[in-house]
Amino acid sequence: MQKIIVVCVLFVFVSVPVAMARPGHRLDSTTNSCRDFSKGDLEWGSRAWGDGGQAFQSNCKSCHFRGNDKGAPFLWAESKSSRGWNRVFAEKKVPCAKDGSWDSLSKDQLLKLNDYLYRFGLNSGDAFDSA
Ligand code: HEC
Repeated sequence: MQKIIVVCVLFVFVSVPVAMARPGHRLDSTTNSCRDFSKGDLEWGSRAWGDGGQAFQSNCKSCHFRGNDKGAPFLWAESKSSRGWNRVFAEKKVPCAKDGSWDSLSKDQLLKLNDYLYRFGLNSGDAFDSA
């Protein structure tokens, strides 16, 4: 665990000059792993939102769109900070996570969804919000 944290902290210093702002990695508490998204779908400037962004659109946004009649508050990546999103996925205490609305998503999709929301969350542009 400590090793993982050290690697993640090192990432901050290595990736900050390159990515300048958006976090390039995420420490995932559900798998105790360091998620590196400095390459691939979530890379700065990549066109697509990647699998995580798609899972957000197809699952979460099917309820959480503006003006929905399901009682779901409007949500987008910036509705929460990066850390706030990590908490949502680590604790799974929100009503829709408990009532089975997330069940169609695989574990891998949930990890990628968390990566996506962390990467683009509120204030994720502040380099040091990424730890
Ligand atoms: C079937 C509809 C549905 C789906 C799909 C759904 N939600 Fe929800 N979600 C709700 C509803 C309804 C509430 C509000 C429940 C309440 O307040 O009693 C809610 C509440 C939440 C909240 C708390 C809102 C707040 O203001 O903090 C979060 C966060 C959230 N959902 C995230 C997600 C994420 C992430 C996904 C996709 C993995 C998702 N939801 C998928 C219906 C849904």
